[in-house]
Amino acid sequence: DVLPKGVKALMDNGLVTIPGRYIKPPSHRAVKHLIVPGVEIPVIDMAELESDREKFVQTLCKASSEWGIFQVINHGIPVATMQGMVHGVLELFDLPIEEKMKYYTEEVFVPVRYCTSMTPSQETHMEWHDHFQHYFSNREKEHPWPEKPACYKEIAWFLGYCRRLASSYVSSVKHLSQTLMSALSEGLGLDSNCLAKSFGDSEMILRSNYYPPCPNPDLALGMNGHTDSGGLTILFEDQVGGLQARKGDLWYDLKPIKNAFIVNIADQLQILSNGKYKSIEHRVLVQPDQTRLSIVAFCNPSQDAVIGPLPELIDEQNPPLYKSTLYQEHITNVYTKYLDGKHSQKLQIN
Ligand code: SIN
Ligand code: FE2
Repeated sequence: DVLPKGVKALMDNGLVTIPGRYIKPPSHRAVKHLIVPGVEIPVIDMAELESDREKFVQTLCKASSEWGIFQVINHGIPVATMQGMVHGVLELFDLPIEEKMKYYTEEVFVPVRYCTSMTPSQETHMEWHDHFQHYFSNREKEHPWPEKPACYKEIAWFLGYCRRLASSYVSSVKHLSQTLMSALSEGLGLDSNCLAKSFGDSEMILRSNYYPPCPNPDLALGMNGHTDSGGLTILFEDQVGGLQARKGDLWYDLKPIKNAFIVNIADQLQILSNGKYKSIEHRVLVQPDQTRLSIVAFCNPSQDAVIGPLPELIDEQNPPLYKSTLYQEHITNVYTKYLDGKHSQKLQIN
């Protein structure tokens, strides 16, 4: 069987109708009457952190409990850092397909991954996006970036360049995540380092998603509905839009705000907060005529952290809602059992 090369390559070859494996069954498609227009997802102004920390913590805590997703403005990360990253990532996707295919893998724990959809060989219905994923952690020391075979060398310089660019982006975003995690700890009535301590030696994964125009946007999805498995997700997107979050049966559009970040609570923060903060389901729609780019930083616990409801939050009235699980085990379960959108039983209920 030939490896799928990704949706950008399909479109570059002049595709006019989508192949059958991208057509979602009707039950998985985005239905117009279940989409709510014009509802504002919370916007968090980081400038308030300086002027009134208590109020900031309250606002953040409310957004994280009621929505689990919000946009962040005045975050202090220079526009040049974000734009530099966008340009670098676009160049990466613009590499000839043969170059990108050298990194093609379905493995999720490799230091550099190029893939399309999630696990193409196991999916019945694929997602309309390609992505590059890079680890930034001690995992990188365990699995250094490859120098062999020799063909890697040709683009090693390029990747080295991207990596330096990405490192400065990642350190800015990491700082933002630490600030938010401190405030989220305070929002639980705890010491500001409480959540960070539970994460241990945290791991950052940088993932860039490329959603080319889709000839049949109503039949496909850029990304299936899912919750994020890690800790906190910090996402930068262009102005195209298409990201939606689900509450009950309804889907809410996240309207792009220029140079803002979209932040969402992921599963491990829902568990640690014993359900106070919500890991919200989200998905991505595709467009008929525009390419969308998102650059996502996953701020995750250490693989060997054991994550369960924080003991400080548990008493007779508040029993633990979730089991404690080794984070490594949690993600292995997710990648082996919950493909094709079977995400609803992802958290181990106590
Ligand atoms: C994701 O949920 O990982 C990506 C969403 C996006 O591209 O906006
Ligand atoms: Fe996600």
